[in-house]
Amino acid sequence: MLTLFTAMFDGPLNESILKRAQAAGRLDAHIHDIRTYASDKHHTCDDAPFGGGAGMLMKIAPLAAAIEDISSADAAPAHVVFLTPDGTTLTQAIAQELSTKPRLILICGHYEGIDERIRQHYVHQELSIGDYVLTGGELAAMVVIDAVTRLLDGVISADSLAEESHSDSLLEYPHYTRPAVWNDAAVPDVLRSGNHAAIALWRRQQRLTRTYERRPDMLATAQLDKHDRAFLRGLGWHDPLWCEQPPRRSKPVRTPDA
Ligand code: ADE
Repeated sequence: MLTLFTAMFDGPLNESILKRAQAAGRLDAHIHDIRTYASDKHHTCDDAPFGGGAGMLMKIAPLAAAIEDISSADAAPAHVVFLTPDGTTLTQAIAQELSTKPRLILICGHYEGIDERIRQHYVHQELSIGDYVLTGGELAAMVVIDAVTRLLDGVISADSLAEESHSDSLLEYPHYTRPAVWNDAAVPDVLRSGNHAAIALWRRQQRLTRTYERRPDMLATAQLDKHDRAFLRGLGWHDPLWCEQPPRRSKPVRTPDA
């Protein structure tokens, strides 16, 4: 990570799964302070935009020096990502792809942004974590690190990753734990039936229902078999592969001649 605010990463990297992933040698995270690459005695990292306008930009020289230094510090090629609200929106598929890269350099912007030439010269991918504007790229970089690290081999069990939301363009089914009845609300009977086939079917149908109700757009890319499609049609989903059969003509009723 390249940032002006290194301490922002302390919490997320030192708790829970990210902490364990580092201890297990699965994640090797380094936080670099861009300010240390500024050559003047005040370590200036901002500058006014050409053409005027509100706010300051990140100064080009310290950022360029930081990127060059860190890129060359390791033999593994670095994939350079800039976090910005005008980037491509992060998805699970992008997180999957990033998890295959040997090394990532995440650039956290601040102020009004960074010089366009840095983007053109060094950056391979620009990512946003959603359609809203944060005070800087640090929180977005942490989101990327978290989403990518949990996909690295050995960080989380393969079972946990298999049926979670967004793993296959379907949202997750609801979960329940003890007690079986809480505040008059009971766990669905099927989950306590011991019937594994019925449980699997219920969970699949819950995933389909949730996705249809909350994110119908995702159904366009989900892997759906004919049972899924029939179930969804029953909910009112317009199945793009389903052609209504024309109503069958009933045979004319012959009446005996008088
Ligand atoms: N920096 C500021 N807002 C951001 C966002 N939504 N995503 C990524 N980086 C950002």
